[in-house]
Parts: sequence; C-alpha cells; structure tokens
Amino acid sequence: MVTGRFIAFEGGEGAGKSTQAQLLVAALEARGKVCVLTREPGGTPGAEAIRELLLHPPGEGWLPQTEALLFAAARADHVGRLVRPSLAKGHWVVSDRYLDSSRAYQGAALELGDRAIRDLHSFGSTGMLPDLTVVLTAEPARVAERLARRDGGAADAIGGRDAAYHARVAAAFTRFAAAEPDRFVVIDGESDVDAVHQRVMQAVEQLC
Ligand code: TYD
Repeated sequence: MVTGRFIAFEGGEGAGKSTQAQLLVAALEARGKVCVLTREPGGTPGAEAIRELLLHPPGEGWLPQTEALLFAAARADHVGRLVRPSLAKGHWVVSDRYLDSSRAYQGAALELGDRAIRDLHSFGSTGMLPDLTVVLTAEPARVAERLARRDGGAADAIGGRDAAYHARVAAAFTRFAAAEPDRFVVIDGESDVDAVHQRVMQAVEQLC
C-alpha cells in the first residue's frame, strides 16, 4: 500500500511557517504529489470550532489543563478525520503546527510537563508523529516587529502572552530538535524566503 508523507512546520509566532508550508505544497504539487495543506489547531470543521474556543476563549480564559485538553481534542479530530485518511490515500500532508506546539506552549511554557502532553497525544491520536518536523527559528525582537505588523495589536489569547512565555516556547523547540535530530530539522526562519524554502526542500528530499 502506498502511504503519503506527513510534514509539520513548527516554531514561535511570526517565524514564517505558513508561507513556507504553502511554498512546500506548491513545490510538491509541481512534482506531481497530491498534497493536503492543513493547520493546527484546526484542519477539520470540529477542530476549527475548537480553535475558535482556544484563541478567543469565553469568560476569563482556560485553565492550563483545559487548554492542553482542548488542543489534544482538536488534534484527535484532525488526525482521525483528515491526516490519517489522507496519508492512507497516498497524499502528502503538510501541517502548519502539530504536537510539538503542545509540548512547547503547554508542556514547557505552561509547565504542564512533557509526559502529560505525550499521554494526551497517545490517547487522542495514537501517538502519531510526522515523518519530518521543520522548526523555523526567529529572533524575538524581529518577531515582535512582524507580529505588530500582522496582528496590529489584536493578538489572540496565546499569541498575546508575554515575551518571557514566548522565550520559553522558543527554547523548548530548540531542545526538542536537539534531543531527536532524526525527527527534526532546524532552519533559520530569518533568511530570505527563497533561501529558507531551498533548505526545506533539501530536508524533504530524503522523503521523496
Ligand atoms: P496561529 O495564528 O495559527 O499561529 P501562528 O501565530 O504561528 O500563525 O495560532 C495558533 C496559536 O496556538 C499559536 O499561538 C500557537 C498556539 N498553539 C498552542 O499553544 N498549542 C498547540 O498545540 C498548537 C497547535 C498551537
């Protein structure tokens, strides 16, 4: 049976993940691959509804544990209804964020711990991991500038957390990649868009 490949882009806010995910899909399609471009939280109607709850929480916001459960619930729907069925058809799935965002934003930066996030993932999504995870890095000062341009002061509940929180997130991604060099590739997201894309294509080549 032909199965597709699963690639995730990870990193802090404003590191260029969405742009690079789009460029990768265009390049793979030009080579004749059938691709699904998706994102987390989201990607299915149910997960997109949960996304709205997470980014624009009602009332005073979610407790850390609730937030982690909602991300895991959105991911379970995404994996079960879109990612797995697409891979089974031989399609390539490219996701803007996946599990390692939960490990960085909830497990590390909210201090819920990696074990708890992995346990939720194991239950919700049978522990499914991408074939390759691309971490795009960016300097916090440059990111703040890009985000101010993008969000114009209207950041969501998580993007709007303080600089120390986002520094913990960035450090966590770097740690994860160092701990599992076979699963991750780290690319400087601040090089020009084409240079980053070339690096992404080099990394993806091994999966083709
Ligand atoms: P989004 O606008 O898609 O991210 P970006 O700023 O990278 O374009 O918003 C998703 C937000 O949700 C982002 O702040 C990261 C956060 N997030 C988590 O905290 N945990 C997760 O598991 C995922 C997938 C995202």
